[in-house]
Amino acid sequence: MTDESQTEEEELRREPPELDPEMLARREAALRHVRKFGDPVLKSRAVEVEQFDDGLRNEIARMGLLMEDAIGVGLAANQVGLLRRFFVYRVSEDDPLQAIVNPVIDWSSEEEETFEEGCLSLPQVVVEVTRPAQIRVSAQDRFGEPIEIEADGLEARVIQHELDHLDGVLIIDRASRGQRREAMRTLRELEQGF
Ligand code: NI
Repeated sequence: MTDESQTEEEELRREPPELDPEMLARREAALRHVRKFGDPVLKSRAVEVEQFDDGLRNEIARMGLLMEDAIGVGLAANQVGLLRRFFVYRVSEDDPLQAIVNPVIDWSSEEEETFEEGCLSLPQVVVEVTRPAQIRVSAQDRFGEPIEIEADGLEARVIQHELDHLDGVLIIDRASRGQRREAMRTLRELEQGF
C-alpha cells in the first residue's frame, strides 16, 4: 500500500468532529421528527406537488431547519411523513438552502462513482452506493418556477439520494448484498435497544 492510499483511507475513516452537548441535544431532538427505517412512508412513492402556496414554503423552511439541526446534507418530504415530491439540501455551509420540487432527471452520465452514504432515516448505517457522477435535473422552485440543475460530485450524489426517497428507495436497496445484510443487523440491534 502506498503512502497516498493510506492517507486517503485515513481520511475516509476520520471521525466527525466532536459535537458540543447543546448541538447533540438539538440533533437528537431533530432526529425524533425524522421517520426511521420500518416506517411504510419511506417505501412509498411521493406524489407531484400541484399547489405552490405558503403551506409548501413553510414546510420547506421547517424541513431546512430540521435538516440543519440534524446535521444532514439533505432531507426529503417522505422523511417527515409527507408523500409529496420535494426535498431540501445544502452541500456546503456557504451555499443557501436549496429546495427542489417535482424533480426529474433529464440526463445522467455513463461515468459512475462509488461512495459511502448515510441517511438520517437509517441511524448508524453507512453503505457504499454507486451512482452516475453527473446529472441534469429539471424541477420547480418553491414558487413553481421551472429550474434546471447541473450537478456533479457531492451535489449530484445528494440530489440522487433525495430523489430516491421520493420514489421510496433507500440506500440499503442500492447496497451490495453483504453490506445490506450488515446494515439490517445494525438496524435490528438499534430497534432492540442494544
Ligand atoms: Ni436519506
